[in-house]
Amino acid sequence: MWPEVEPRDPRLPARVRVVEVGPRDGLQNLARTVPTPVKVEFVDLLTAAGLPVVEVTSFVSPRAIPQLGDAAEVFARIARDPATRYPVLVPNLKGMERALAAGARDIAVFTAASEGFARHNINMTIAESLRAFAPVVELARGEGVGVRGYVSTAFGCPYDGVVAPSAVLSVTKSLLDLGVEEVSIGDTIGVATPGSVRAVLSALLETIPAERLAVHFHDTRGTALANVLTALELGIAVVDSAAGGLGGCPYAPGASGNLATEDLLYMLHGMGIETGVDLAAVTAATSYLTTTLALTPASRYVQAAMAASQPHL
Ligand code: COA
Ligand code: ZN
Repeated sequence: MWPEVEPRDPRLPARVRVVEVGPRDGLQNLARTVPTPVKVEFVDLLTAAGLPVVEVTSFVSPRAIPQLGDAAEVFARIARDPATRYPVLVPNLKGMERALAAGARDIAVFTAASEGFARHNINMTIAESLRAFAPVVELARGEGVGVRGYVSTAFGCPYDGVVAPSAVLSVTKSLLDLGVEEVSIGDTIGVATPGSVRAVLSALLETIPAERLAVHFHDTRGTALANVLTALELGIAVVDSAAGGLGGCPYAPGASGNLATEDLLYMLHGMGIETGVDLAAVTAATSYLTTTLALTPASRYVQAAMAASQPHL
């Protein structure tokens, strides 16, 4: 049975924490609105796969992201497993109040490394976003709620073009100074290559411990897995991905799906790196969603699994 497991290269992390972002990053960009019960079942299937983190939804303006307008309802209905964390995105105090009222115990705040994207995505400058997050993070910490930060467009911006590693470093440090526990460095439009990943992460790792960083790649140009491997070589052991390779941000034109969780798991497990996640069960979650919504999964692993289950002609 594939993958054939190789002995792990001792320079790579023994274990990777996979942060499943499909129900949020994946579903926010679909043209159609997914019925609430389908979202709930998708999250429950991802929980059953043993994922340690499933990002459920966003408490953002329903005008900005109508696809996630049912955030409170979804959050109330999912079956929460004590072994899994269920973060939700929160852009401001209003979102934080809604998230707390819904019972969220983990949140994520999000800004960008480029002004153009921050303006389009959250209608704030980077500095304004950091000011808006300060009371959100304070409230979260007071309530014992975990806080993650996202830095979008860390490798390139659809509005501003090239992004300097120094800009990524500056906003990442500011988030950590606010009290954010972990910062996910995002290639929102999927332009990174192993060279730029090494350049940006090396700049961060000069002053930031690897334990405080995660990576978030979109596979728009087919480089996501190569980028993950580069991040692992640099000691990063938290990787975001979306079941089936769904995803993209509506404010990042042309951005395609996230790195597929199945493709990530296939590579990690084959390299002898543990995740605690059941690959077949993630595939089943994707299969449920894509069958129900008549979507074609972008995940290469899922495509291969589906082809293998068909009789050969
Ligand atoms: N939840 C629900 N409604 C919210 C909200 C929240 N977290 N934050 C603001 N709103 C509402 C306000 O109440 C207001 O409604 P009203 O006009 O009916 O009074 C309206 O949205 C505008 O509020 P304002 O504070 O002026 O926000 P804005 O228009 O400048 O938008 C954000 C700023 C951050 C709220 C919005 O851009 C947003 O939600 N962006 C998220 C984008 C996203 O999720 N992208 C994908 C992730 S990468
Ligand atoms: Zn993303």
